[in-house]
Amino acid sequence: MSATTPKGLTRLAFGGDYNPEQWPESVWQEDVRLMREAGVTMVSVGIFSWALLEPEPGRYDFGWLDRVLDLLHANGIRADLGTPTVAPPAWFYRAHPEALPVTPDGVRLAYGSRGAICHSSPAYREAAARITTELARRYAGHPALALWHVHNEYGVPVSACYCDGCAAHFRRWLDGAYGSVEAVNEAWGTAFWGQRYGTYEEILPPRTTPTVGNPAQQLDYRRFADATIRENFRAERDILHELSPGIPVTTNFMTALSQCDSIDYWAWGREVDLVTNDHYLITDGRRTHVNLAMAADLTRSVAGGAPWLLLEHSTSGVNWQPRNPAKRAGEMARNSLAHVARGSEGAMFFQWRQSRRGAEKFHSAMVPHGGTDTRIWREVVELGAGLGALEEIRGSRTVPDVAMLWDWQSWWAQKLEWRPNEAHDARERADGFYETLYDRHLTVDFAHPEADLSAYPLVVVPALYLMTEAAGQNLREYVENGGTLVVSYFSGIVDEHDAVHPGAYPGALRDVLGLTVEEWSPLLDDQRVGLAGPGGAALTGDVWTEFVRPRGAETVWTYADGPAAGGPAVTRHRLGRGTAWYVSTRLDAASLDAIVAAAAEDAGIPSRPSLPRDVEVVRRAGAHGHYVFVLNHTDAEAKVPLDGPGTELLADGEVTGSLTVPAGGVRVVRLDG
Ligand code: GAL
Ligand code: ZN
Repeated sequence: MSATTPKGLTRLAFGGDYNPEQWPESVWQEDVRLMREAGVTMVSVGIFSWALLEPEPGRYDFGWLDRVLDLLHANGIRADLGTPTVAPPAWFYRAHPEALPVTPDGVRLAYGSRGAICHSSPAYREAAARITTELARRYAGHPALALWHVHNEYGVPVSACYCDGCAAHFRRWLDGAYGSVEAVNEAWGTAFWGQRYGTYEEILPPRTTPTVGNPAQQLDYRRFADATIRENFRAERDILHELSPGIPVTTNFMTALSQCDSIDYWAWGREVDLVTNDHYLITDGRRTHVNLAMAADLTRSVAGGAPWLLLEHSTSGVNWQPRNPAKRAGEMARNSLAHVARGSEGAMFFQWRQSRRGAEKFHSAMVPHGGTDTRIWREVVELGAGLGALEEIRGSRTVPDVAMLWDWQSWWAQKLEWRPNEAHDARERADGFYETLYDRHLTVDFAHPEADLSAYPLVVVPALYLMTEAAGQNLREYVENGGTLVVSYFSGIVDEHDAVHPGAYPGALRDVLGLTVEEWSPLLDDQRVGLAGPGGAALTGDVWTEFVRPRGAETVWTYADGPAAGGPAVTRHRLGRGTAWYVSTRLDAASLDAIVAAAAEDAGIPSRPSLPRDVEVVRRAGAHGHYVFVLNHTDAEAKVPLDGPGTELLADGEVTGSLTVPAGGVRVVRLDG
């Protein structure tokens, strides 16, 4: 089953996690009254309610949830109903302490928080299936039910367990994947450091070792942990499909690497009926709206380009970072509408009413501690009205310009220890390339390295250390058939077992790039290199340099100094009907932009509109029309040229060739014709 919308939801989703169990029932009436005032269309309920729904093993108390769902229904609000399996009750752990997860150094974590789960535990699996079955039986026919929300954010806070039960499960998984201990030895290269295994029983999870553990074993353990967690999602999903047919099933992803890096969302995207995502701004000195756009683009890509849904973000500050700034006036709406521009069918929040007690009482909410006479509440009401005015965009699709290759498995491999330079960070390079494309006002699709790329004029490969031979072949065909490719250093080095591809670097990419890399020469922290190029222009790099030998590629930029002085730094290979660029150092932002500009020209992409980089322009197209979203993240009014006349949906009014967007504001135009 695949759905692009929760059942019965006829407007964009607007609402949040609703935890009425934290409040006396007298507050619930006020809740729904305020929800109606704000134009809330859907809320998420029951996500952490296991201990209340099943206070003792096998004894259920659904009365309060019945009343909540009835109340929502009576007020025209749809329900995204959680299975509470991320928070088992204390009685469960007392009976099954073995279901608590164990860290790599052997510490068994305690209950009393959330997410303390060993996903291999048979007792956990059985208890989760039981409560899911009871919920599905009780609520399958409830008129408020729009969407099933399984668990919460699989993969965090515990991404893997290292207990004896998991060890046994891992051995079974290995047998399924490899068929024999011999094959495992071969794939893991256990001849090195005398790690050879005689039987499966000898194999352990990658627990804490005196020095670096086997990298292929660690990589497989990541895969195993991800697959194990996915088994548990599937088990719940299948119960819901069977007992509650016609209601789509989701689980909330966190596609941003900075928020969850342990889940292979390419695989998960195929398992859910509707892709949903949670996103929080990270205060790390970078432009948060760029990071948001990247996460939204990645989520849409995981959904195969189809509409998806932002299930959680924050109205203002969060409470789990060292510093938690409040959002500025208008920022919440810009964040929400940026997700919508990039494919979300609404904007939901954690949470509806700010808690008085518990770990998240200082996290912002739709109804803050200060009540309704607050800036947050006024902006919530305004956003609800804005989303109401955008109803017609439902079902339309975001229009991409270019693609970036992305692979969580490569990220896992890349993060393992003992690499040429710790300062090389795959995420930083992906962010850097994304930012360059964002600043050129190009909308990015993310693609798996083995996916069909033929729709994209330009494909960038920021840091894809692990690449299968099939992926290399895919890129070669893409270029031969007319594509333009830009590859950054330390890509295509190892295969799926973290084994270096045979022959010279970069094994998976030698042919398509028309070069080999004889050796890399990483730079020290304060070292920079200059690059000399066409017309005496200069670029700057750091972190990494290489000794590149062209074998068909032309040298476009040369190292002016540094370890590889005089040698090629940036090359370009014409192959078939296309072109492949290679960048062998970490270019600073302006330098990278120069290379991307040259490649975009090869790709025939029109040059960038003369807009400030922080004026974001994104398109969605569908049966009802072609929409242009303009988000002005600057402090000045912006004038944006349009392809033709149209109708402004948020501010109401006709627009002709150009659109004026106030400082910090958002406009959405349906183009005529
Ligand atoms: C999410 C989680 C929510 C809440 C939120 C706070 O990761 O799903 O339950 O904790 O973070 O930002
Ligand atoms: Zn375990």
